[in-house]
Amino acid sequence: MEVIREIHELKARQAVWNSPVGLVPTMGYLHEGHMALVRRARQETATVVVTIFVNPTQFGPSEDFERYPRAFGRDLDLLRSAGVDIVFAPPVSEMYPDPFSTWVEVEELGELFEGVSRPGHFRGVATVCNKLFNLVSADRAYFGQKDAQQVAIITKMVCDLNMKPDIVAITTVREPDGLAMSSRNAYLNPQQRAAAAVLFRALNTACQLYRDGCRDVAMVTRAIADIVHEEHLAELDYAAVVDPTSFEELDTLERPALAILAVRIGTTRLIDNMLLKE
Ligand code: PAJ
Repeated sequence: MEVIREIHELKARQAVWNSPVGLVPTMGYLHEGHMALVRRARQETATVVVTIFVNPTQFGPSEDFERYPRAFGRDLDLLRSAGVDIVFAPPVSEMYPDPFSTWVEVEELGELFEGVSRPGHFRGVATVCNKLFNLVSADRAYFGQKDAQQVAIITKMVCDLNMKPDIVAITTVREPDGLAMSSRNAYLNPQQRAAAAVLFRALNTACQLYRDGCRDVAMVTRAIADIVHEEHLAELDYAAVVDPTSFEELDTLERPALAILAVRIGTTRLIDNMLLKE
């Protein structure tokens, strides 16, 4: 496994890479969720490139960029054992030379839900993913369904801008109590960690309502909100039932629907989602 820090070096090595090339973009502090993406890339592509870059442009001014957890040595051990070929871990100055002035915005989709709560977030995500796709010339790029709106935005960007990689979405990997694995779970103290299981409980209840024949969107979102409100350490940011591609709110459940929610526990913000299906 080669660890590359600089763009010119990454470009120089590409000539000898076997295709197809699989890209797994991450911000590091890797867990089993990330590793599921890496394993899938390893199965499907000849050269697996994992990027570790805590992307400053997707964090708001009052967000956690400075304290975002980092464990580079441990990340490299995990990636080496998973048979990764290349780790690209550039410094910020390499990705955003000063002055930097070109941005990618995915309109509408990028302005809903996470886009409302985190202004500028998706502009940062779309821009950095665009750069990574260009730098790596990936044939496939792997993303987690845990960040469902991110998957929808990247898929739309690739389609609108005729970009190369196929986007592969991977099922959310969960802790035994259902909490979606996330690097940010490390911020939770033991009480908060126990409370965080409420996201999965609420989504499961929504799914169960659907399976019991409920097709009333208001009833489903109310059930999610009620369950979150019962957990006194949790504060609901939003709960909604949306079209999985456009993230438009649905008013009936007659077509594929995604239940989404964002919850604050202390200063930590957690998101999760579940497809409503039989
Ligand atoms: P990060 O939060 O490190 O996540 C990297 C990838 O792992 C994302 O595609 C994310 O959806 C996926 N992932 C995280 N938790 C997961 C879980 N429990 N199950 C399955 N997949 C999971 O998402 C980002 O970084 C950044 O926005 C990035 C795309 C790297 C751009 O900076």
